[in-house]
Amino acid sequence: MTTILKLNAGIGKGTISRHLYGHFAEHLGRCIYEGIWVGADSPIPNTEGFRNDVLAALKKVNIPVLRWPGGCFADEYHWKDGIGPSEERKRMVNTHWGGLVENNHFGIHEFFRLCELLDCEPYICGNVGSGTVQEMSEWVEYMTFEGESPMADWRRENGGETPWKLKYFGVGNENWGCGGNMRPEYYADLYRRYQTYVRNYGDNQLYKIAGGANVDDYNWTEVLMREAGRFMDGLSLHSYTIPGSWEEKRPALGFDDTEWIETMKKSLHMDELITRHSAIMDQYDPEKRVGLIIDEWGTWFLNEPGTNPGFLYQQNTLRDALVAGIHLNIFQQHCSRVHMANLAQVVNVLQAMILTEGGKMLLTPTYHVFEMYKVHQDNELLELTFESPDYTFGEVTIPQLSVSASRDASGKVYVSICNLSHKEQANLSFSIEGAAHEKVSGLILTHTELNAHNTFEDADNVTPSAYDGASLKGGVLDCELPPASVVVLTLE
Ligand code: AHR
Repeated sequence: MTTILKLNAGIGKGTISRHLYGHFAEHLGRCIYEGIWVGADSPIPNTEGFRNDVLAALKKVNIPVLRWPGGCFADEYHWKDGIGPSEERKRMVNTHWGGLVENNHFGIHEFFRLCELLDCEPYICGNVGSGTVQEMSEWVEYMTFEGESPMADWRRENGGETPWKLKYFGVGNENWGCGGNMRPEYYADLYRRYQTYVRNYGDNQLYKIAGGANVDDYNWTEVLMREAGRFMDGLSLHSYTIPGSWEEKRPALGFDDTEWIETMKKSLHMDELITRHSAIMDQYDPEKRVGLIIDEWGTWFLNEPGTNPGFLYQQNTLRDALVAGIHLNIFQQHCSRVHMANLAQVVNVLQAMILTEGGKMLLTPTYHVFEMYKVHQDNELLELTFESPDYTFGEVTIPQLSVSASRDASGKVYVSICNLSHKEQANLSFSIEGAAHEKVSGLILTHTELNAHNTFEDADNVTPSAYDGASLKGGVLDCELPPASVVVLTLE
């Protein structure tokens, strides 16, 4: 059976912010320490303490924005502990994540330097749960005030001559849970209070993000929009893809076909979550001024055997690649409301882009999806209509296809397609209006084994390759996708 899709390259549906391709780095396990920061004395090749291999890999995918320092860690983090000579910095216990000693060698100066080296926007999450209004207010002063002031003078003493440019600032994280176990009414009031003292200094304009809902807690969104909507620029949403249940998570490897389709189904749930949270936001903000910021998403499996459970280290298979492709297509479809999304997390934690082991590094299947999809960044979303065939296995029936298309400034069109089925090929025929492209090329990520993944011994087991399954003639694009595959096509 062939699925017919109508793609109108002349009808734009909004801009796909590059920030939908954002990332998240927390002081958790081996994400910051070892994954990104090894220190200037390390035998691992580095630039001012940042590992060169990871920097190069992240630059290659055009990382647009990086969220830091947490996560749950953010509401325990006291920024003043992370400045000054590193040997004199206060040590603390990272109670959330493994109970290890945090030496604060990676602090605010290191974070901004990292963002400079990556050429990406910093996104800082402030501490509401255990921090004061004064602490948050002074942090913003330290980072962005230009003239003479106690905090700006202190920054200069620490080597930060000029203030940094900072746009994205989160006022707390998961304040319904690890960020203080608050009720939405209480947090809405606290948000209003804290954000009052989060000032715009000089020409630095902050985009303030309120801590949003957990998954389908629509009441949280309702209360926040009603009570504090006019004081925010963004409202976050966190939702992880967890086959099994939160209490009984499953391993990242060794899953069967039933778990495959269950994972696909749970990924597709993101569409419903965005639709319903957006509908509430529409009531209070019909102009869509406030962005929905999905600043934590991705798969959450059991930690790899033999690793510290508090480090959340998991392998990453072809299944994760499909999860990534599905989510990115969904975010693009909702680009008028979703202004940013941050995968959790960038290195060595949960659905990581990159895994490291000492001096070794590998790129995960998820990384390759981000690499293939980066062509969509800042493009115009295109109108696309189709009805996906069903994909049924066992008790579960879901759509077989996830598709999204965009056009860049030069007129090239990009189509990203995921075939969710683990067993059936997909045949697609696009009728294209509003453009007359002559050439199609593409990349494909797939494998014969659903559990396929990259290891330090075989780092290229799952990598993209040139795709020759598409033809373009007279405004009709035909393509065939093998089971369990992600394809990105370029039409020019
Ligand atoms: O990403 C891991 C954790 O998941 C974050 O610290 C927290 O915000 C979420 O619960």
